[in-house]
Amino acid sequence: MSRRRIEFGDFQTPIKLSNLVTSLLTELSIKPHIIIEPTCGSGSFLISGMGSFNGAKYFYGFDINKEYIQDLSSKFKDRKNIEIVEQDFFSFNWNGFVQNLKKPILCIGNPPWVTNAVLGTIGSKNLPEKSNFQGLSGFSAKTGKSNFDISEWMLTKLSKVLNKSDSYMAMLCKTSTARKVLLHNWRNGIEIDDSRLFLFDSKKYFNISAGACLLYMSFKPNHFEKKADIYSDLNLQNRIATMGIINNELVADIGSYKKASAIGGFQYYTWRSGIKHDAAKVMELEKVGDKYKNGFGEIIDLEDTYVYPLLKSSDLGNDRLEPRKCVIVTQKNMKDPTNTITKKAPRTWDYLNRYSDILLNRKSSIYINRPRFCVFGIGDYTFSHWKVAISGLYKNIHFNAIGPYEGKPIMLDDTCYFISCKNEKEAVFITQLLNSPISIDFIHSLVFFDAKRPVTIDVLKRIDLRKLATELGVEKKDINCLKQSKNISDSQTCLVFD
Ligand SMILES: C[S@@+](CC[C@H](N)C(=O)[O-])C[C@H]1O[C@@H](n2cnc3c(N)ncnc32)[C@H](O)[C@@H]1O
Repeated sequence: MSRRRIEFGDFQTPIKLSNLVTSLLTELSIKPHIIIEPTCGSGSFLISGMGSFNGAKYFYGFDINKEYIQDLSSKFKDRKNIEIVEQDFFSFNWNGFVQNLKKPILCIGNPPWVTNAVLGTIGSKNLPEKSNFQGLSGFSAKTGKSNFDISEWMLTKLSKVLNKSDSYMAMLCKTSTARKVLLHNWRNGIEIDDSRLFLFDSKKYFNISAGACLLYMSFKPNHFEKKADIYSDLNLQNRIATMGIINNELVADIGSYKKASAIGGFQYYTWRSGIKHDAAKVMELEKVGDKYKNGFGEIIDLEDTYVYPLLKSSDLGNDRLEPRKCVIVTQKNMKDPTNTITKKAPRTWDYLNRYSDILLNRKSSIYINRPRFCVFGIGDYTFSHWKVAISGLYKNIHFNAIGPYEGKPIMLDDTCYFISCKNEKEAVFITQLLNSPISIDFIHSLVFFDAKRPVTIDVLKRIDLRKLATELGVEKKDINCLKQSKNISDSQTCLVFD
């Protein structure tokens, strides 16, 4: 794919899809006076809009690409009610422009689906000036939460511009972008009376694999409707759920949430991410006889001292609970020095030093100013022999009680989440609670399955195990677990990587 195509998110919408979108919008009985396509490219939505909205009096198309603008201008040269202008979205005075237009306006189109991180790696400047528009903290920025689609910025900007006017927005975007824009609008008092998400197959129309949708919003002064119907396709008959805000938190399916919300509340245990090391080929090993094989195929002879059995997300997701791999864990606590390995396990220290070019050049800033060969996401909880664990990556919600393997606690990778338990009985009890239908329903109501990590710590910590036990009528059975649970993990730092 060309650099330019990536940089400008240049995937022109097939007219078949833009026709489906505009005819769907007519079913919503909207009657725009003006239609704007802010990143119009070859103008599919302007063309479809002209066919579907007889009442629309004026059309505007903008794009940064001169060639698209020239082609489209010549296509429409005989029409008096259309302006096609070469314009960078980010430097345009949208407020000034929209203020003077007669309403209702329909902003429609398909803004570029590219993230600021990707633009950063190719050295592109196709970005807004201020990138941290979500107002994230330094920690979130470091762990990647400040990564955003530039379409998220564009749609948030257009929402602000259309706010308090009778207008509409209908944009193709990633479902994750649509959710972020909606959440941002709902939390920031944008006046909206109707929001909807229509899913569509991005592989079919754009040959890309991403959860994709048409995001529709109707702006109306003094209306604050904080929910959105979700449809399985571009068809008003096929509503599958309604997402929205309850108690200032985003809920994926309000209906299921209301049914299962009795178990929402306080987390008695602290959910943890598994271990992070960012050097799988060096740190993850296979046992071969009494030796180990690393990701480069090298057979190595290491002491067992720092080697632990490992389960990865794919293991948990597929119920493979006998570890096939091991991992080198160089510390017990994030503050521990690592140079003690020299004496305790000299062969391991030699091995790590042989791969120091990889280990000392790990990209994430979490390794900066920390001991040589350190790992991340560890504490006492990492070494507890019993855990209740789930993969964050799989749609089939299933918890497993994980016990020790060959006398050692099993480690989990950083795409898994777990709570540490004191013993087998406790782990089995909690696993049964979490795998109960009401618990699964509750998680389903909060989880967006198109997300890369459907299950997150934010979701898990909303399950109140004590309320769950009460709902299931087993609160007397093992209530001691829940009583003591807070003591286990109060002092540990919570790490969230997603
Ligand atoms: C996904 S394509 C969609 C084009 C068109 N809206 C459609 O649906 O067929 C994104 C378009 O955004 C344009 N674009 C990218 N960055 C832009 C910017 N900063 N300002 C204006 N247009 C931009 C690209 O040139 C490209 O035509």
